[in-house]
Amino acid sequence: MEIDRNVADTYIAENYFHRKFEKSDGKSVFVSQLVCGDVGCVVWDSAIVMFHFIEKNKSFFSGKKVIDLGSGTGLIGIQAAACGADAVITDLEEFISLMELNIKNNLHIISGTIEARCLRWGSDVSDLSSPDILLVSDCLYYDESVLPLAKTINDLSNENTIVYLSYEIRESEAKKKIVKDFFNIISKTFTVQDVPKHLLDEEFCCDDIKMLKMTKIKFS
Ligand SMILES: C[S@@+](CC[C@H](N)C(=O)[O-])C[C@H]1O[C@@H](n2cnc3c(N)ncnc32)[C@H](O)[C@@H]1O
Repeated sequence: MEIDRNVADTYIAENYFHRKFEKSDGKSVFVSQLVCGDVGCVVWDSAIVMFHFIEKNKSFFSGKKVIDLGSGTGLIGIQAAACGADAVITDLEEFISLMELNIKNNLHIISGTIEARCLRWGSDVSDLSSPDILLVSDCLYYDESVLPLAKTINDLSNENTIVYLSYEIRESEAKKKIVKDFFNIISKTFTVQDVPKHLLDEEFCCDDIKMLKMTKIKFS
Protein backbone atom coordinates (compact mmCIF):
# COMPACT_ATOMS: atom_id res chain seq x y z
CA MET A 1 0.00 0.00 0.00
CA GLU A 2 1.37 3.41 -0.98
CA ILE A 3 0.37 6.43 1.08
CA ASP A 4 -0.41 9.71 -0.65
CA ARG A 5 1.73 12.41 0.96
CA ASN A 6 0.11 15.24 -0.95
CA VAL A 7 -3.43 15.02 0.34
CA ALA A 8 -5.01 16.32 3.55
CA ASP A 9 -3.50 15.62 6.98
CA THR A 10 -5.81 12.65 7.52
CA TYR A 11 -7.66 10.35 5.12
CA ILE A 12 -9.11 6.83 4.98
CA ALA A 13 -8.15 4.28 2.32
CA GLU A 14 -8.06 0.46 2.16
CA ASN A 15 -9.02 -0.08 5.85
CA TYR A 16 -6.31 2.32 6.95
CA PHE A 17 -6.73 5.78 8.44
CA HIS A 18 -3.67 7.79 7.50
CA ARG A 19 -2.35 10.60 9.68
CA LYS A 20 0.41 13.12 9.28
CA PHE A 21 2.40 14.48 12.25
CA GLU A 22 4.34 17.61 11.39
CA LYS A 23 7.89 18.14 12.53
CA SER A 24 9.54 21.52 13.06
CA ASP A 25 11.72 21.23 9.94
CA GLY A 26 8.78 21.04 7.51
CA LYS A 27 9.02 17.23 7.25
CA SER A 28 6.27 14.94 8.60
CA VAL A 29 5.91 11.48 10.06
CA PHE A 30 3.17 9.55 8.21
CA VAL A 31 1.33 6.94 10.24
CA SER A 32 -1.20 4.42 9.02
CA GLN A 33 -3.71 3.37 11.67
CA LEU A 34 -6.10 0.46 11.22
CA VAL A 35 -9.78 1.42 10.97
CA CYS A 36 -10.64 -1.67 13.12
CA GLY A 37 -8.46 -3.47 15.65
CA ASP A 38 -7.15 -3.59 19.19
CA VAL A 39 -5.88 -0.52 21.12
CA GLY A 40 -2.45 -0.58 19.46
CA CYS A 41 -3.77 0.14 16.00
CA VAL A 42 -4.22 3.89 16.63
CA VAL A 43 -2.06 6.71 17.99
CA TRP A 44 -3.02 7.77 21.53
CA ASP A 45 -2.87 11.31 22.89
CA SER A 46 0.03 10.46 25.22
CA ALA A 47 2.02 9.54 22.12
CA ILE A 48 1.26 12.90 20.52
CA VAL A 49 2.57 14.71 23.62
CA MET A 50 5.69 12.51 23.52
CA PHE A 51 6.12 13.02 19.76
CA HIS A 52 6.37 16.79 20.26
CA PHE A 53 8.56 16.37 23.37
CA ILE A 54 11.03 14.40 21.22
CA GLU A 55 10.83 17.04 18.48
CA LYS A 56 11.55 19.83 20.95
CA ASN A 57 14.48 17.93 22.51
CA LYS A 58 16.00 16.26 19.45
CA SER A 59 19.51 16.51 20.87
CA PHE A 60 18.54 14.12 23.71
CA PHE A 61 17.82 11.45 21.09
CA SER A 62 20.40 11.89 18.34
CA GLY A 63 22.86 8.98 18.31
CA LYS A 64 21.13 7.30 21.26
CA LYS A 65 19.88 3.71 21.55
CA VAL A 66 16.12 3.86 22.08
CA ILE A 67 13.55 1.15 22.77
CA ASP A 68 9.83 1.93 22.55
CA LEU A 69 7.57 -0.44 24.53
CA GLY A 70 3.96 -1.09 23.48
CA SER A 71 4.66 0.99 20.43
CA GLY A 72 1.38 0.24 18.58
CA THR A 73 1.65 2.15 15.31
CA GLY A 74 5.32 2.92 16.02
CA LEU A 75 4.92 6.72 15.95
CA ILE A 76 7.17 7.48 18.92
CA GLY A 77 10.05 5.23 17.95
CA ILE A 78 9.86 6.39 14.34
CA GLN A 79 10.04 9.98 15.55
CA ALA A 80 13.10 9.13 17.68
CA ALA A 81 14.75 7.51 14.63
CA ALA A 82 13.85 10.56 12.55
CA CYS A 83 15.74 12.59 15.17
CA GLY A 84 18.84 10.41 14.74
CA ALA A 85 18.27 7.62 17.28
CA ASP A 86 18.87 3.91 16.72
CA ALA A 87 15.39 2.74 17.66
CA VAL A 88 13.74 -0.60 18.28
CA ILE A 89 9.96 -0.41 18.32
CA THR A 90 8.25 -3.28 20.12
CA ASP A 91 4.78 -4.67 20.66
CA LEU A 92 2.83 -7.91 20.55
CA GLU A 93 3.24 -10.10 17.43
CA GLU A 94 -0.07 -8.88 15.96
CA PHE A 95 1.31 -5.33 15.56
CA ILE A 96 4.57 -6.19 13.80
CA SER A 97 3.10 -5.77 10.30
CA LEU A 98 1.56 -2.37 11.18
CA MET A 99 4.85 -1.17 12.69
CA GLU A 100 6.75 -2.41 9.63
CA LEU A 101 4.33 -0.65 7.30
CA ASN A 102 4.85 2.59 9.22
CA ILE A 103 8.62 2.18 9.18
CA LYS A 104 8.39 1.80 5.38
CA ASN A 105 6.18 4.91 5.15
CA ASN A 106 8.88 6.97 6.85
CA LEU A 107 12.22 5.58 5.66
CA HIS A 108 12.87 8.82 3.75
CA ILE A 109 13.08 10.86 6.99
CA ILE A 110 14.91 8.37 9.23
CA SER A 111 18.44 9.53 9.92
CA GLY A 112 19.16 6.91 12.61
CA THR A 113 18.11 3.27 12.32
CA ILE A 114 14.90 1.45 13.16
CA GLU A 115 13.55 -2.08 13.48
CA ALA A 116 10.29 -3.61 14.74
CA ARG A 117 10.43 -6.50 17.19
CA CYS A 118 7.98 -8.58 19.12
CA LEU A 119 8.32 -8.02 22.86
CA ARG A 120 5.67 -9.20 25.30
CA TRP A 121 6.06 -7.49 28.67
CA GLY A 122 7.40 -9.79 31.34
CA SER A 123 9.19 -12.04 28.84
CA ASP A 124 12.94 -12.64 28.57
CA VAL A 125 14.80 -9.58 27.24
CA SER A 126 18.33 -10.99 27.32
CA ASP A 127 18.63 -10.63 23.52
CA LEU A 128 18.26 -6.82 23.86
CA SER A 129 20.91 -4.59 25.38
CA SER A 130 19.93 -1.79 27.76
CA PRO A 131 19.01 1.34 25.79
CA ASP A 132 20.05 4.90 26.59
CA ILE A 133 16.38 5.83 26.46
CA LEU A 134 13.27 3.74 27.01
CA LEU A 135 9.96 5.18 25.76
CA VAL A 136 6.61 4.06 27.19
CA SER A 137 3.46 5.81 26.01
CA ASP A 138 -0.03 4.97 27.24
CA CYS A 139 0.80 1.50 28.50
CA LEU A 140 -0.86 1.80 31.96
CA TYR A 141 -4.39 0.71 31.22
CA TYR A 142 -5.07 -2.86 32.33
CA ASP A 143 -4.52 -4.63 35.58
CA GLU A 144 -2.77 -7.79 34.37
CA SER A 145 -0.06 -5.75 32.64
CA VAL A 146 1.13 -3.83 35.69
CA LEU A 147 3.65 -6.37 37.03
CA PRO A 148 4.99 -7.59 33.65
CA LEU A 149 5.39 -4.02 32.35
CA ALA A 150 7.27 -2.97 35.50
CA LYS A 151 9.47 -6.08 35.15
CA THR A 152 10.32 -5.30 31.51
CA ILE A 153 11.15 -1.68 32.30
CA ASN A 154 13.33 -2.88 35.16
CA ASP A 155 15.01 -5.68 33.16
CA LEU A 156 15.80 -3.43 30.18
CA SER A 157 17.19 -0.50 32.17
CA ASN A 158 20.64 -0.06 33.52
CA GLU A 159 21.72 2.79 35.83
CA ASN A 160 22.21 5.12 32.85
CA THR A 161 18.93 4.42 31.07
CA ILE A 162 16.42 7.26 31.05
CA VAL A 163 12.79 6.14 30.88
CA TYR A 164 10.26 8.62 29.48
CA LEU A 165 6.79 7.44 30.36
CA SER A 166 3.59 9.23 29.35
CA TYR A 167 0.05 8.35 30.29
CA GLU A 168 -3.40 9.84 30.32
CA ILE A 169 -5.08 10.53 33.66
CA ARG A 170 -8.37 8.67 33.37
CA GLU A 171 -11.30 9.23 35.70
CA SER A 172 -12.43 5.69 36.54
CA GLU A 173 -11.37 4.29 39.91
CA ALA A 174 -10.17 1.08 38.25
CA LYS A 175 -7.80 3.02 35.95
CA LYS A 176 -6.54 5.14 38.86
CA LYS A 177 -5.76 1.95 40.80
CA ILE A 178 -3.75 0.55 37.88
CA VAL A 179 -1.61 3.71 37.80
CA LYS A 180 -1.21 3.67 41.59
CA ASP A 181 -0.22 -0.01 41.64
CA PHE A 182 2.31 0.53 38.85
CA PHE A 183 4.02 3.44 40.63
CA ASN A 184 4.02 1.56 43.95
CA ILE A 185 6.06 -1.16 42.24
CA ILE A 186 8.29 0.93 40.00
CA SER A 187 9.21 3.46 42.69
CA LYS A 188 10.99 0.67 44.62
CA THR A 189 13.69 0.63 41.93
CA PHE A 190 13.26 3.94 40.04
CA THR A 191 13.28 7.64 40.85
CA VAL A 192 10.20 9.16 39.23
CA GLN A 193 10.02 12.86 38.33
CA ASP A 194 7.77 15.04 36.18
CA VAL A 195 9.41 16.15 32.96
CA PRO A 196 9.75 19.92 33.48
CA LYS A 197 7.11 21.96 31.64
CA HIS A 198 9.64 23.96 29.63
CA LEU A 199 10.78 20.74 27.90
CA LEU A 200 7.24 20.01 26.66
CA ASP A 201 5.74 21.56 23.56
CA GLU A 202 3.45 24.37 24.74
CA GLU A 203 0.78 23.55 22.19
CA PHE A 204 0.93 19.78 22.60
CA CYS A 205 0.72 19.27 26.35
CA CYS A 206 -2.21 19.31 28.76
CA ASP A 207 -2.93 18.68 32.42
CA ASP A 208 -4.45 15.24 31.86
CA ILE A 209 -1.41 13.81 30.08
CA LYS A 210 1.52 13.14 32.41
CA MET A 211 5.09 12.97 31.09
CA LEU A 212 7.52 11.44 33.55
CA LYS A 213 11.25 10.82 33.61
CA MET A 214 12.42 7.75 35.51
CA THR A 215 15.94 6.57 36.33
CA LYS A 216 17.09 3.51 38.20
CA ILE A 217 18.01 4.10 41.82
CA LYS A 218 21.72 3.44 42.40
CA PHE A 219 21.79 1.10 45.37
CA SER A 220 25.28 1.03 46.87
C1 LIG B 1 -2.96 2.16 24.44
S1 LIG B 1 -1.82 1.41 23.32
C2 LIG B 1 -0.55 2.63 23.19
C3 LIG B 1 0.13 2.56 21.85
C4 LIG B 1 1.19 3.66 21.66
N1 LIG B 1 2.27 3.53 22.62
C5 LIG B 1 0.58 5.01 21.76
O1 LIG B 1 0.72 5.68 22.80
O2 LIG B 1 -0.07 5.45 20.78
C6 LIG B 1 -1.03 0.17 24.34
C7 LIG B 1 -0.07 -0.69 23.58
O3 LIG B 1 0.51 -1.65 24.47
C8 LIG B 1 0.55 -2.91 23.80
N2 LIG B 1 0.54 -3.99 24.79
C9 LIG B 1 -0.48 -4.32 25.63
N3 LIG B 1 -0.15 -5.37 26.38
C10 LIG B 1 1.11 -5.72 26.03
C11 LIG B 1 2.00 -6.75 26.47
N4 LIG B 1 1.65 -7.62 27.41
N5 LIG B 1 3.22 -6.80 25.90
C12 LIG B 1 3.57 -5.91 24.94
N6 LIG B 1 2.78 -4.93 24.47
C13 LIG B 1 1.56 -4.84 25.01
C14 LIG B 1 -0.69 -2.91 22.95
O4 LIG B 1 -0.64 -3.87 21.91
C15 LIG B 1 -0.72 -1.47 22.46
O5 LIG B 1 0.03 -1.31 21.28
